Amino acid sequence: MGVLTKDAAERLYDRIAGVYDWLLMLFRVVGSERWRAKLIENLKLQKGDHVVDLCGGTGINLPLLYRAVGASGKITIVDLSENMLARAREYAAEEGINNVAFVQADVVEFIFAEGADAVISTFGLEMVPEYATVIEKASDALSASGRIGLMGLKHPEDWPDWLISVGIFLTKPFAVSRDYEDFRPWIAARSFMDEQWFKQHLAGAAYSFVGQKKAVKARTIHQSALAKTHSSSQ
Ligand SMILES: C[S@@+](CC[C@H](N)C(=O)[O-])C[C@H]1O[C@@H](n2cnc3c(N)ncnc32)[C@H](O)[C@@H]1O
Repeated sequence: MGVLTKDAAERLYDRIAGVYDWLLMLFRVVGSERWRAKLIENLKLQKGDHVVDLCGGTGINLPLLYRAVGASGKITIVDLSENMLARAREYAAEEGINNVAFVQADVVEFIFAEGADAVISTFGLEMVPEYATVIEKASDALSASGRIGLMGLKHPEDWPDWLISVGIFLTKPFAVSRDYEDFRPWIAARSFMDEQWFKQHLAGAAYSFVGQKKAVKARTIHQSALAKTHSSSQ
């Protein structure tokens, strides 16, 4: 299938937006909502904070983020797909959450507001080829104590090959394929953030990461270098 182009990703999510929350059932069964809650708890958001949700989709993180930042805070959801964002708008309205900005954009092009308190991405950046650039830009824009929280699928190094094939088959609706197995956003994040928390789920098929912006910025990393860091950096 290959790595999706931006147009293909936008078309895919525009097409499945209406059933996306149902498709997540598979992940819910294996514990994704617990991981999500723990990730947002570990982001240590405060009332009044501004948090940016990259690849925020249908706004599934909204209730947890709103509970953390409150009505005085601000949530920005960035997503390529207008149909996914339309669902997020409806969801926010149903939940009575009014302090959300919805931005239809490629996260690579998105211009972060200076001084945001946190950036989160769940099941998002591990399918964006330029994830290292996005994480660097996010970290540059964060406040001095800003945090990044990431959660998503990863290549399960220790799974037998047949089980990886089953996993890929089950996640086909999201266009998961072996072409993404070198995509490791948490490793890019470690260059700019001091790691606060890292956990693997499902014997290495998914991960959560929380980091706090480093006091001194590290040298820019090149995407090509990340693919070579592999399992030594799990
Ligand atoms: C698997 S969904 C994740 C949605 C949500 N964050 C969650 O936890 O369920 C991936 C989302 O990323 C969005 N996306 C993919 N590539 C993107 C890009 N380059 N820029 C912005 N959004 C992107 C898709 O439109 C889709 O809504």
